Amino acid sequence: MSTGPQATSEQGPSTIAGTARDHLWMHFTRHSTFEDGTGHLPVIVRGEGAYVWDDAGRRYLDGLAGLFVVQVGHGREELAEAAARQARQLAYFPLWSYAHPAAIELAGRLAGYAPGDLNRVFFTTGGGEAVESAWKLAKHYWKLRGKHGKHKVVSRSVAYHGTTQGALSITGIPEAKEMFEPLVPGAMKVPNTNIYRAPEPLRGDPERFGRWAADRIAEAIEFEGPDTVAAVFLEPVQNSGGCFPPPPGYFARVREICDEYDVLLVSDEVICAFGRIGGMFACEELGYVPDIITCAKGMTSGYSPIGAMIASDRLFEPFRHGTTYFPHGYTFGGHPVSAAVAMANLDIFEREGLNQHVRDQAPAFRTTLEKLLDLPIVGDVRGEGYFYGIELVKDKATRETFDDAESERLLRGYLSQALFDAGLYCRADDRGDPVIQLAPPLIVGQSEFDEIESVLRTVLTKAWSLL
Ligand SMILES: Cc1ncc(COP(=O)(O)O)c(C=O)c1O
Repeated sequence: MSTGPQATSEQGPSTIAGTARDHLWMHFTRHSTFEDGTGHLPVIVRGEGAYVWDDAGRRYLDGLAGLFVVQVGHGREELAEAAARQARQLAYFPLWSYAHPAAIELAGRLAGYAPGDLNRVFFTTGGGEAVESAWKLAKHYWKLRGKHGKHKVVSRSVAYHGTTQGALSITGIPEAKEMFEPLVPGAMKVPNTNIYRAPEPLRGDPERFGRWAADRIAEAIEFEGPDTVAAVFLEPVQNSGGCFPPPPGYFARVREICDEYDVLLVSDEVICAFGRIGGMFACEELGYVPDIITCAKGMTSGYSPIGAMIASDRLFEPFRHGTTYFPHGYTFGGHPVSAAVAMANLDIFEREGLNQHVRDQAPAFRTTLEKLLDLPIVGDVRGEGYFYGIELVKDKATRETFDDAESERLLRGYLSQALFDAGLYCRADDRGDPVIQLAPPLIVGQSEFDEIESVLRTVLTKAWSLL
């Protein structure tokens, strides 16, 4: 039943939070927190630069760029203008056998930024669809090449790649999947590159650890049979679990393995592209050339949704001929408004030198966050660019982590709310070991680094005293 904008919640007067409680189904959210009306639902109403404001007028530093999205910061008039201009001229047309200038121009621009011969851009509306598209393309490509059995995929433990059934299969978080099993079969997992949790002899030797971790991919391919494996999906820096950069030599070895076994390498850059680690595409920063890049989030800085799968000329080649086509698409893939906003967003990147800014400032961001290592609860600070994870531990010397009940008390019961109350929006995550994740807009500098450090210091010190 529609109750309209004046909807009243049974719990009390008409408020926007009340209507949310009654009607809005939030994503990955425990609604029980708000059911009895005591849990406060944050309602964010405005953004400017690196800050957002809630409906009570309180200001928060956006330490996560929304959800690893708002690269150029909030409140950019020119992006709103670009959207309005495009909507006035041509609000919508599909990319199904027709094209429009915004998508054409953006495809050309993305191909120009992408490394190697990654020249073919297939637009989606977000990251999960890009991942889904990449798996489908890998399967289709190998069929067209006569290798009909190559359909399986390899990805890493704890990695997140999206929620559609294929992308969720690729995701390495069992708790996110168990309710939806059986998912798409044929997705196996290998270890991620969390050197902080690596076995003892490898922990102190990053090169050896990198070789070991990459070789687990070769082993999985061998175990399954190379003729059955289509692709490997890896983030340049893995987010879930708390920011695992690749150890030295890791991607060079992965590339070798993929070439040796005729397996496609998919660089899932839904988070890492568009400046997050200081370049348009992270694979280029990290020195490898994948067969496919998947990207989304930062392409428009969130001012309108879009995603893309960028494929190499080699993968597109069989689709150039005869009646062959890729039977796949999305109504809103490459939406004109989103494509126009992406172009304007990328103009800001170029004009303000945002990638260079991240490269220049990243060492200071790291040094500032590393000050927190003097706290007993901070076990590890790791990441690249403007993308960090801070792992929390019970015992620094032994690296003992919190058990489930402690994690629940610490992260859900205290930290998330306390950080927010102290004016910092970021994420306390326990999809692996407990971590705090930071990925601010790319426009921030030392004063925001200091603000982040100061809030974390206060709140983590209090958290330790409550344990
Ligand atoms: C690496 C990675 N891949 C895929 C996705 C899914 O993207 P979306 O939520 O836009 O579907 C995400 C989302 O955070 C991601 O981090």
